[in-house]
Amino acid sequence: MYIKEAKARVIKNSRKERTIEVKFKTNNGFFICSAPSGKSKGKNEVIDFNKKGVRYSVKLANIFLKILKNKEVKFSSIEDLRKIEFILKEFEKNNEILGGNVWYAIEGALLKAAAKEKNIELYEFLLNGEKPKIPLPIGNAVGGGLHTRTHKKKPDFQEFLFIAKEEKIQKAISKNILAYFDVRLKIRWKEKKFFLKTNDENALICSLSNHEILEIMRDVAKHFDLRIGVDVASSNFFDGKNYDYKNKRFLRSREEQNEYISDLISEFDLFYVEDPFHEEDFLSFSSLLNFVKKNKKDCLIVGDDLTTTNLERVKKAYYQKSINAVIIKPNQIGSLLEVKKVCDFCKKNNIKIIFSHRSGETKDNILADYAVGFGADFIKTGLYGKERLVKLKRLIDIQKRIHKV
Ligand code: PGA
Ligand code: ZN
Repeated sequence: MYIKEAKARVIKNSRKERTIEVKFKTNNGFFICSAPSGKSKGKNEVIDFNKKGVRYSVKLANIFLKILKNKEVKFSSIEDLRKIEFILKEFEKNNEILGGNVWYAIEGALLKAAAKEKNIELYEFLLNGEKPKIPLPIGNAVGGGLHTRTHKKKPDFQEFLFIAKEEKIQKAISKNILAYFDVRLKIRWKEKKFFLKTNDENALICSLSNHEILEIMRDVAKHFDLRIGVDVASSNFFDGKNYDYKNKRFLRSREEQNEYISDLISEFDLFYVEDPFHEEDFLSFSSLLNFVKKNKKDCLIVGDDLTTTNLERVKKAYYQKSINAVIIKPNQIGSLLEVKKVCDFCKKNNIKIIFSHRSGETKDNILADYAVGFGADFIKTGLYGKERLVKLKRLIDIQKRIHKV
């Protein structure tokens, strides 16, 4: 394809923070991609922007993009990103770090253009002949932790999730959304001061404890035939020695945390537990996974801050038997080629793959194409708000396309 124009600019994400949008003009039209941003980031993620800020990173990105302008680029599969990544690395070596989010937006826009050049959809381009499968939606219904900064009294866990079972994607999504509104009603009954506010991911804000929310979620899930789970995001309240719970106040040691989470899995039949221990504690993850296996629980022990979409960390977690599922956030690593390597490793070793949005999202729907194109089992998003719904809509659109073929 022939790149006629390539430009980056600053836009705002759903949290009103600055982020990058990249736009390519080729012989086939315009192709745009923008990068989301995390708040509860793993410390092993690549840096998102140059430390001099988003504006500076975008300025650097525009210098870089001049290299690609007025060039014919051969792009027949994702492997052709290798050439682009080589130039990106050289640029960073000779200049300054661009940041994972700059890589993410450049590569996303290029992949969209490359798919169009072949006259196929992006997920088809990524699948490269493999059979598509639609991931099951995981929806964030109630939120605490770092995503709920406006409220002091909140649950300690970051996310309370509904997970749809195998069925048509449209039905699965609408069940998750209906369940979300049902939870909203039930919280309102229980908490007089509930103001129907939502957090960064449009999950409900309330002052109930983990336990109280799980009780509500369990009832609602039963009614809609859904499963439930949590993102503990425990690195955010690990003080270096203990897990420091605020609601209700409790200091839990590593062993007590293990016991607490195991009890919750049993009591609430949790299907999904993300980051139950801090991001370097591979061993506690292993003992929890062992508990799950020994007791034949149908539960995913998921790494996010633990693994940060980093092949070496995913391998370590796999060999130490720490996880049976992994979160993939492409901008945790920046390179889509690395994302592919991680997904290939997971598929080979039967680790479930969950593509995830970030708390500061844009209106780009590329996550749905990535999830299908890289063979994800699940996709995690919020259930409310434009930035979240565009991704779910795209998933429905992909399902329709697949069935037409
Ligand atoms: P983040 O959080 O996007 O703020 O990093 C999401 C998560 O922890 O799953
Ligand atoms: Zn997480």
